Amino acid sequence: MDHSKLEKNIRNMGIAIAIVISIGGLVEIVPLMFQAETTQPIDGVEPYPALQLAGRDVYIREGCYVCHSQQVRPFRSETERYGHYSVAGEFVYDRPFQFGSKRTGPDLARIGGRYTDEWHRHHMIRPQDLVPESNMPGYPWLEQRELDPETVAMRMRRLRMLGTPYSDEAIGEAEALAGKTEMDALIAYLQGLGLAFPRGRY
Ligand code: HEC
Repeated sequence: MDHSKLEKNIRNMGIAIAIVISIGGLVEIVPLMFQAETTQPIDGVEPYPALQLAGRDVYIREGCYVCHSQQVRPFRSETERYGHYSVAGEFVYDRPFQFGSKRTGPDLARIGGRYTDEWHRHHMIRPQDLVPESNMPGYPWLEQRELDPETVAMRMRRLRMLGTPYSDEAIGEAEALAGKTEMDALIAYLQGLGLAFPRGRY
C-alpha cells in the first residue's frame, strides 16, 4: 500500500493509531478478566463483614487514600517493611479498589493486627499524641457519628447484585451495627487489612 495515504492524512493516521492501540489493549486486558489468578479470591479473603464494609466507606469518604496506598510492590525495600507483596486475589471484593499511588503516610495494605484497637482510636483522634512529627490530620468526629444499619444493609445488597457472594445471614448482621460509631467501623476495617498474608507466613 502507498504509505503516503496514511502518513500524510491525519484522519487516516488517527484511525490507524486507534485500531492498533485497541488491539494492543484488548490483548493485554481481556485475558485478565478470565484468569483465575486475577478473578478468584486467595485463601483467607472473604467479602467484608458489615462493620468492616461500613469502615471502608468511611475510609473512602474521608479521603484516606489521598495519603495512603494499599499496595505493596514486589521490591525488597517494600516487602521487608510491609510484608508480602500484594496479589490480585486479595482485592476481588474491593469495589472500588484503594491501591492509591500517593504515600504521604505509610502503605496500609498489611496494617491489620499491627496495632491494638486502642492505638488506632487514639491515633485517629490525634495522631501527634503518638507520632509527634506526624502531619496526618485528626478525625475526632468519627467517634460521635453513629452508623445507619439500614444503609449498610442496602450497600451489601447492591454489592450482591454486582456479584459479591453475601448470604442473607451476612447481610442480616448489619442490624447489629446500631449504636456503633464510624470510628468502630474504620478500626475494624483497618484491623482486617492484609490478613490473608500474615507476617511470617511466606
Ligand atoms: C495528609 C496526609 C494523611 C491523611 C489524609 C491520612 N493520613 Fe494516615 N498517616 C499519614 C502520615 C504522614 C502517617 C505517618 C505518621 C503517623 O503514624 O501518624 C500516617 C499514619 C497512619 C497509620 C499508621 C501506619 C503505620 O504503619 O504506622 C494509619 C493506620 C493511618 N495513617 C490511617 C489513616 C486513615 C484511616 C486515614 C483517613 C481517615 C488517614 N490515615 C489519613 C498521613 C495521612
